[in-house]
Amino acid sequence: MDRLFIFDTTLRDGEQVPGCQLNTIEKIQVAKALERLGVDVIEAGFPISSPGDFNSVVEISKAVTWPTICALTRGVQKDIDVAAEALKYAKNKRIHTGIGTSDFHIKHKFNSTQDEILERAVAAVKHAKKYVEDVEFYCEDAGRTDNVYLARVVEAVIKAGATVVNIPDTTGYCLPWEYGEKIKFLMDNVNGVHNAILSTHCHNDLGMATANTIAGVQSGARQVEVTINGIGERAGNTSLEEIAMILKCHKSMNIETQINTQEIYGISRMVSGLMNMPVQANKAIVGRNAFAHSSGIHQDGVLKNRESYEIMDPTDVGIDKSSIVLTARSGRAALKHRLGVLGVNVEGEQLDKIYEEFLKLADKKKDINDDDVLLLAGKGRTEKQRIQLDFLQVTSGVGIQAVASIGLIIAGEKFEAAASGNGPVDAAIKALKKIINRIMTLQEFTIQAINKGSDDVGKVHMQVEHDGIVYYGFGANTDIVAASVEAYINAINQFVK
Ligand code: KIV
Ligand code: ZN
Repeated sequence: MDRLFIFDTTLRDGEQVPGCQLNTIEKIQVAKALERLGVDVIEAGFPISSPGDFNSVVEISKAVTWPTICALTRGVQKDIDVAAEALKYAKNKRIHTGIGTSDFHIKHKFNSTQDEILERAVAAVKHAKKYVEDVEFYCEDAGRTDNVYLARVVEAVIKAGATVVNIPDTTGYCLPWEYGEKIKFLMDNVNGVHNAILSTHCHNDLGMATANTIAGVQSGARQVEVTINGIGERAGNTSLEEIAMILKCHKSMNIETQINTQEIYGISRMVSGLMNMPVQANKAIVGRNAFAHSSGIHQDGVLKNRESYEIMDPTDVGIDKSSIVLTARSGRAALKHRLGVLGVNVEGEQLDKIYEEFLKLADKKKDINDDDVLLLAGKGRTEKQRIQLDFLQVTSGVGIQAVASIGLIIAGEKFEAAASGNGPVDAAIKALKKIINRIMTLQEFTIQAINKGSDDVGKVHMQVEHDGIVYYGFGANTDIVAASVEAYINAINQFVK
């Protein structure tokens, strides 16, 4: 079997998504889960982009043992110097540098020529080589780059020392056979192509990221760049779990990875919870309905023989149908165990705090499932915010005007206000705005139930604009008006310091 290397970019391309930003502690938690999952490379960030990203690359490098830690740069010396510095503690390290190679990028982004871009590409690789042996080069917008020119660039950067060459379909434009032919063209026409590994990096703008990645692998690419749950810029990147399970189901492709597929479900939930990014119910492999059979004919078939309608065993991706459902009677140990299965390891005071929240929720809700547990873990981790909700009382109904009174604690001091509004959320936010006297506009507001049942926890995502900047807020509560106010306060806390 041929070995395929898995390069995970959840913490770089995935984390670029607005509202999905993680702090360093959360990134370390994801990186450790990626290590347990068995990825070969973790792209940990873009160090020159911010001090936070720099620090995350440093800390992930210290925390992780086996996978190679990779840092992204533009094809610019300063970026490469900073990336090398951020990687200094990594046991295995890689610099990922590159430049746009399509005519769009060359003319409109760089106002340059093909020859000049080629020179810059070679110079970037040579500069990175001064720091690390393992240098990956990306030809940005390779999907729309002319294959003959692309082959020239790939050949030149391999000659300059690149160990991996990334062929990104940056805009998600390619058709699967077109992308497959592109990789084949490079395999057939680049001198020295076997001195490096070709890598796929596909975006999902037309829903073809996974198909394109598989086409690239069939043509000879031996690294795939992927993210958990397929998160990433715009419509996202190729999802790791889809590639891992395609290769597991289609042994005839003769390609193997080191992915421990039973870790997939736990890390999918963890990433979704930490990034406040729900997984769509019908998402392949990890969606809530991925293994649910609703029609009678299917249910009957599965009961007679699971393989009648299931091509994968849910336990292969870590979905344990008999998983314990927690209730108000469950103890700390059961909660700790469940969190562990989901990849969140907590001890001592942190566990006590999460358990306290767990008991409060269990009083309101009969069964506590994995999503609830992860939400609680997220809440237990958030450090104290400057503005906190003290109380909220709302009266609303049909034929009466909604009225809300709210109490906030701001830096330890208590404030109260009341207001009426066009519905309970409007009334509560108007009351809140009487206390927080800033100009801010609610731009987007989504409410989602996580599971089912009228006692379910509602998750609220909000975008609040203040002074031309958009802030993202998140709240979760069995009371959706309270969840909305929590989300609003969460967004405000980011600019009221
Ligand atoms: O999509 C893309 O082209 C990228 C590169 C920076 C690798 O993410
Ligand atoms: Zn990308």
